Amino acid sequence: MISYRNVTKKYGAITAVDNFSLTIERGEFFALLGPNGAGKTTLLRMTTTLASPTSGSISISGDTVHRNLTRAKQRLGVAAQYPNLEAELSAWQNLEYHGRLYNIPAPTRKRRAAELLEFAGLTERMNDKAKTFSGGMQRKLMIVRALMHEPEILLLDEPTAGLDAAWRRRIWDLLRELQKQGLTIFFTTHYMEEAAALCSRLGVIDRGILIRTGTPREIIARAGNFVLEYFENGKTVQRFFDSREEALRGAARRAGDYGIRETNLEDAFITLTQKPPANGTYDDTV
Ligand SMILES: Nc1ncnc2c1ncn2[C@@H]1O[C@H](COP(=O)(O)OP(=O)(O)O)[C@@H](O)[C@H]1O
Ligand SMILES: [Mg+2]
Repeated sequence: MISYRNVTKKYGAITAVDNFSLTIERGEFFALLGPNGAGKTTLLRMTTTLASPTSGSISISGDTVHRNLTRAKQRLGVAAQYPNLEAELSAWQNLEYHGRLYNIPAPTRKRRAAELLEFAGLTERMNDKAKTFSGGMQRKLMIVRALMHEPEILLLDEPTAGLDAAWRRRIWDLLRELQKQGLTIFFTTHYMEEAAALCSRLGVIDRGILIRTGTPREIIARAGNFVLEYFENGKTVQRFFDSREEALRGAARRAGDYGIRETNLEDAFITLTQKPPANGTYDDTV
């Protein structure tokens, strides 16, 4: 379980994370969805002790992260936003090296590395240097490396950024399997369909502020289950309604072309994150 209590991170005049409070339960598959610059990486860096909050606190299974760094690191497996494998080491050696850093005894380390490479489908390539791997294979290797020390929680920062559709789906399947095995997974993404496909609950973050949490269905329903769309004055206008009938009534006075369809997560996300906050605050936070 991870608990964020009023976590704020400032870099000079920039508030990267703004009074963020959230609890992720054991076994949850939680997505933090937000546009570039929303504060996702900063939040994960604070969770993994690479940065400290300006104010507020983070606890993992009851222990405050910044009071017990070693324990927090033991409980967390982390795959960063940008590939950070040892390029000149083989896949096997990358896992070995991580195991040594975590003081895993040699026999356990070897068994675990072999199992994880098998699980990731990388056994055949285990003696090849990481730098010869495709982007998707590197991502897989980073994910299983994070699992070497048997963490309770897996943190992933944009695990499929830059991958093609087929590789993205392979990574999704890997994560689904891990969640099925009981791991708690907390990942960030700016891909709506990734959040919708994987998570049981998600949070929408914008400009450091957590503006919504809920299931994808709940977040869509909050926006309005149906959307009326038309093009006017050089831009697409979207208006949201609770039912198709209301959307039809909303369209009745329109002279030009329009479309009515079910709202998807992308529509809800765009309307949430593009609106300037009223009087500097979001009117109905979370
Ligand atoms: N080390 C840093 N120094 C100064 N500003 C930073 C630093 N890290 C992040 N920021 C700023 O904080 C905001 C959030 O960044 P980040 O957490 O990387 O967002 P995201 O991961 O959602 O794209 C951005 O405005 C970014 O420029
Ligand atoms: Mg980021």
